[in-house]
Amino acid sequence: MTHTTPPPLPTLIPETAPFSPEQRTWLNGFLAGLLSLDTGVNPLTAAESAALVPAVGAPPEARGPFNDGDDGQAPWHDPATPLTERMQLAESRPLRRRMMAAMGQQDCGQCGYNCEDYANAIFLKNEERLNLCVPGGKETARMLKMLYAEFGAIPAAAKPANAQLARASVPAIDKAPAPIPAHAAPAATAVSAPSRNHPAEVAFLSRTRLNKTGSSKETWHIELDLANSGITYSVGDSLGIVPSNHPALVDAVIAAIGAPPDFPIADRSLREVLSDGSSLGVAPDMLFELISYITGGERRQKAKELARGADPDGDAATLDVLAALQKFPGIRPDPEAFVESLDPLQPRLYSIACSPKIDARRVALTVDAVRYTLGDRRRLGVASTFLAERIAPGAKLKAYIQNAQGFALPCDSSVPIIMIGPGTGIAPFRAFLHERRAAKAPGKNWLFFGHQRRDCDFFYEDELAGMNAAGFLTHLSLAWSRDGARKFYVQDRMREAGRDLWSWIAEGAHIYVCGAIAMGKDTERALLDIIAEHGARSLEQAGVFLAALKKSGRYQTDVY
Ligand SMILES: Cc1cc2nc3c(=O)[nH]c(=O)nc-3n(C[C@H](O)[C@H](O)[C@H](O)COP(=O)(O)OP(=O)(O)OC[C@H]3O[C@@H](n4cnc5c(N)ncnc54)[C@H](O)[C@@H]3O)c2cc1C
Ligand SMILES: NC(=O)c1ccc[n+]([C@@H]2O[C@H](COP(=O)([O-])OP(=O)(O)OC[C@H]3O[C@@H](n4cnc5c(N)ncnc54)[C@H](OP(=O)(O)O)[C@@H]3O)[C@@H](O)[C@H]2O)c1
Repeated sequence: MTHTTPPPLPTLIPETAPFSPEQRTWLNGFLAGLLSLDTGVNPLTAAESAALVPAVGAPPEARGPFNDGDDGQAPWHDPATPLTERMQLAESRPLRRRMMAAMGQQDCGQCGYNCEDYANAIFLKNEERLNLCVPGGKETARMLKMLYAEFGAIPAAAKPANAQLARASVPAIDKAPAPIPAHAAPAATAVSAPSRNHPAEVAFLSRTRLNKTGSSKETWHIELDLANSGITYSVGDSLGIVPSNHPALVDAVIAAIGAPPDFPIADRSLREVLSDGSSLGVAPDMLFELISYITGGERRQKAKELARGADPDGDAATLDVLAALQKFPGIRPDPEAFVESLDPLQPRLYSIACSPKIDARRVALTVDAVRYTLGDRRRLGVASTFLAERIAPGAKLKAYIQNAQGFALPCDSSVPIIMIGPGTGIAPFRAFLHERRAAKAPGKNWLFFGHQRRDCDFFYEDELAGMNAAGFLTHLSLAWSRDGARKFYVQDRMREAGRDLWSWIAEGAHIYVCGAIAMGKDTERALLDIIAEHGARSLEQAGVFLAALKKSGRYQTDVY
């Protein structure tokens, strides 16, 4: 492999365009970076990259570019720890480890990696996009940008080999990540399974509302047809859904920049690209940076501050793309530069709520529709409302499987399992139960489910009650948070049943938790108390006990 000097940046902004030399230079660089025109050295082959990635458990001397003396421990790997604390914990670690600490720590797979692999891919320059971490959001993207700048300052000899070979480029946050083209050909081929980058086409079959009249929630049981998609799955896996934005939001954004909807961008129209390629959620720093270059005076100053992460008017948290444009009325960015300043529209993951043992060609999801009001505008979760209202039965959509990262039934089907999953957290446990029933697994099953109100939010009531009555679902413990004078949650029910829970744990049960992060933290606290009280241990010893359960795979969580 040879070293090549990158060619000079092409001139994209004509001399006659109404920009100062400083603005023209910046925009030329910006667009060249975004459009990847600065073709440098070829990326590494898969084999070369693989050779640089250390094998799990490999001795330090075999760790290639990661032979950096790091002990592999990641004390920051807790989604409930704030970013500043995580960065402190990683302060003295090598750069790639600090990059990992900047991630959301959920190992949720939404970026296509786990947290450690995403950091390593950036460090090895195999991944250019710094804005893929959904739970980390803008905070993570900004921190990665800072760390990336630090990367530029490392002497070449100290960088991993392929980083030296990779092209010198603007930080990746300044580059438009390749959106997943919604019009791409179905990727199911004989050689590669559908994936995040090559999703398959599946058919939307049906949606059924799981809440009854009187509920303040809107949760749907969704069924999809996987026939001919090449998709196979296991219980515990999630389905990645490639959504599209609400057409009314797309139109409002196009109107706000005063561009024609059919403005050509590559081989597509602006409207098409904004529908399925760009995120219209949280306004990215790059959008404010772009605005700062096409506006002046106080407005320019404000846009610059917002791009730096400051909050000059105390409204930064409410600024999605449309609200950001409305904050600077009358701006007319070049549509292409505008699109390139946006984040990619990313797929969303949904826990699979059925077992392939029942019907491998179908997949079921349990989806809570996200809707909320900010200021005077109703905002919609893009993927959940795409599934809840926009896609019609029979229509096709793109999807792929995100394999579970350590969230699976015990191999021994006689092992008892304890499942804790309020709200949509029930989804993977419906799948577990279907799987175990189909396999005639002899192990005992205990489900803790909870939601707001028994009368209207008892998802899959008939099914669960039937399994319970038949003795297959050994215990069904329920917690309704809004039926009484005070909140009552699954962890309250767990404490009530502490003695029995402990006896299940003592006889080897595996414990699973799925749902919101806060719930995951609170149920863990309840488990610790139960282990301490009924297992005759101090809280500290209970912590050691639970850590050992985690390590051995007997305590698995899927929280976000
Ligand atoms: C592994 C995994 C499995 C998952 N499984 C499921 C599942 O089974 N079922 C399920 O329903 N979800 C599940 N999720 C969550 C799901 O992926 C999406 O995150 C969720 O549906 C929201 O996506 P959206 O595109 O509809 O909303 P988005 O467009 O992403 O909007 C959500 C964002 O809106 C903002 N927001 C939301 N509510 C408010 C409010 N009240 N006020 C202000 N801002 C607000 C927040 O910034 C939030 O991040 C799972 C996530 C992961 C990582
Ligand atoms: N598995 C998943 O897919 C999953 C899990 C969790 C959350 N989410 C995301 O969060 C959103 C809402 O989730 P959801 O519909 O599943 O319902 P949810 O909002 O998580 O609520 C489910 C139940 O949990 C209760 N709860 C709230 N805080 C709790 C805590 N600290 N400990 C224990 N229980 C608590 C709620 O009570 P109150 O509301 O009365 O306080 C409610 O009874 C969805 O948009 C989804 O994207 C997804």
